[in-house]
Amino acid sequence: MAKHIVIASGKGGVGKSSVSAGLALALRHSGYRVLLVDCDIGLRSLDLILGAGAELLFHWGDVIQKRCTPEQAITAVAGDLSLLSAPTDFDPAYTPEAMEKLALTYDASFDYILFDSPAGVGFGLELAAAAADLALIVATPDEVCVRSGQVAADRLAQLGVAESRLIINRFDSKAVAKSKLLNIDEVIDCTHLRLLGVVPADPAVTFGMSRGQAVAEKSKAMKAFARIAGRLNGKRILLEID
Ligand SMILES: Nc1ncnc2c1ncn2[C@@H]1O[C@H](COP(=O)(O)OP(=O)(O)O)[C@@H](O)[C@H]1O
Ligand SMILES: [Mg+2]
Repeated sequence: MAKHIVIASGKGGVGKSSVSAGLALALRHSGYRVLLVDCDIGLRSLDLILGAGAELLFHWGDVIQKRCTPEQAITAVAGDLSLLSAPTDFDPAYTPEAMEKLALTYDASFDYILFDSPAGVGFGLELAAAAADLALIVATPDEVCVRSGQVAADRLAQLGVAESRLIINRFDSKAVAKSKLLNIDEVIDCTHLRLLGVVPADPAVTFGMSRGQAVAEKSKAMKAFARIAGRLNGKRILLEID
């Protein structure tokens, strides 16, 4: 049975989709079968981030509406990562129950199913979290983002997601040293969440993902994603910053 993980933040633009893609790639590099589900209805981005072009024919809404088979809806991206793209429009058939059923359809074929959630703490998050048993809350080290991460974690607890862990994204130790951004302890204290990892601010993320290419394997960010993937799999890996 696959592990179901929702990636959330409350606020937009903090790196949910980048973390989803980077973590999926790191898990895949470690040999796990990973299904990445873009849950941002109308504003999907994982297809662009991971370089899916014209081959993108179906989305997960088509599976729910029985317009294609579960296998047909999957697009292979970045080599052999499996992507389920998001519908372009909302439909009343997209309910939390339908999302749970959708996840069960793919359960036996994957080790990890990652749900990249939209911004906000409303129905979009509810859909993304419907099948999840773990949430990864992505926060950049600033007050606005940290507070919205905490709100998202509270909402996910109400929705029945058993556990939330924290990923600090776009960490810049020089900015922290100048007291321009919160330090790691402050982010942990404000969110009340257990830290899973820290991803540095790294131009390789913006560069790779804006071109539909995977983040360079030797980049600082990709190394951070690999450490996070290892911790998810129960390995004890020391925290490294930068
Ligand atoms: N660790 C990082 N270092 C540098 N840029 C990043 C990092 N994480 C995300 N970004 C950039 O931030 C922007 C927003 O990221 P995105 O993943 O789309 O956020 P969200 O899904 O939360 O809206 C993108 O331009 C992305 O390339
Ligand atoms: Mg996104």
